[in-house]
Amino acid sequence: MTGPGRGVLARWRHVLPVTAATPALTLGEGDTPLVRSAALERLCGLDELWFKLEMCNPTGSFKDRGMVVAVAKAVEAGAQAVMCASTGNTSASAAAYGARCGLDSYVLVPGGKVAAGKLAQAIAFGTRIVEVDGNFDEALAAARELSEDGAVALVNSVNPDRVQGQKTASYEICESLGDAPDILAIPVGNAGNITAYWRGFVECAERGLATLHPRMCGFQAAGAAPLVVGAPIEHPETVATAIRVGNPASWDGATAARHESGGLIEAVTDEEILEAYELLARKEGLFAEPASAAGVAGLLKLSRAGRARGGRAVAILTGNGLKDPDTAAARYSPNIVKAGPTAREIARALGW
Ligand code: F0G
Repeated sequence: MTGPGRGVLARWRHVLPVTAATPALTLGEGDTPLVRSAALERLCGLDELWFKLEMCNPTGSFKDRGMVVAVAKAVEAGAQAVMCASTGNTSASAAAYGARCGLDSYVLVPGGKVAAGKLAQAIAFGTRIVEVDGNFDEALAAARELSEDGAVALVNSVNPDRVQGQKTASYEICESLGDAPDILAIPVGNAGNITAYWRGFVECAERGLATLHPRMCGFQAAGAAPLVVGAPIEHPETVATAIRVGNPASWDGATAARHESGGLIEAVTDEEILEAYELLARKEGLFAEPASAAGVAGLLKLSRAGRARGGRAVAILTGNGLKDPDTAAARYSPNIVKAGPTAREIARALGW
């Protein structure tokens, strides 16, 4: 359904805080594919497993859905600049939509902990990048303070317009499947997205677009699992740098989603994340970034523990694998041979 006049603001304006004064901003976000699993469905002990390819959004992550709303509302309010703290994807998205609107943008990122592709995006969009000598949680606290006087609009998911935009993915899932799924598997970092999806599913049920609520199954990286531990983690660590968050801003939203849906929030180790990352690529043809694989790792883990109950699940693939070439290089031994340009030389190199 993409095309002229589409995008999240146009398509979902009846469920968003859009007014006559909200600019018609879009980079073609939303309407992402929902693709049935070829192999992992069985391994996860499910009747149906679907992947929501949020990595197909314009900057390669789900952030665009919320960012288009947050930046449009910032323009509507007369802001001249936007700011965010980010593990990488929010910064790429804020920078893109900021560029589109002619706004200055400032991104605060944890120094040395942002995947190369995400940094490349922020650089390309011309944003002002501050590499903070600290982690995401510290950068977010600073961003909140710096945006307090309203001169720059804060576009992290503590901005309610972000959550509003991100909830539209639940509407799309209900529309595609004809109902909500039984299970929603999702990686959790700062916890804005699980909060947004839950809001979307609750609204879908209220509006008669779904007959059931999914069990919200959130997964954090074991080294950055404050919601599992029940307390903030001072020094979060994980290969899935996107979800390297020790003190999620939407803590209450995530725990409410877990409680109200009868769901769970559990931890998966880096090795389990990388195994799912590899299975997604090798068995499904889907190159998602490591954080995205955390949801799938969680489903596999539940199944192996004999805790899978069948049913229909949707796993959110939140970001594109191309964003993090270093993790791919570290995980895989490339299957490459060198050869001269003739068929004969190539056949010889292949051992034919
Ligand atoms: N997956 C990816 C690829 C992400 O970039 C993030 C968060 C998440 C999952 C978790 O979503 O924070 O709403 O619970 N990335 C943020 C960022 C923190 O700055 O890009 P969440």
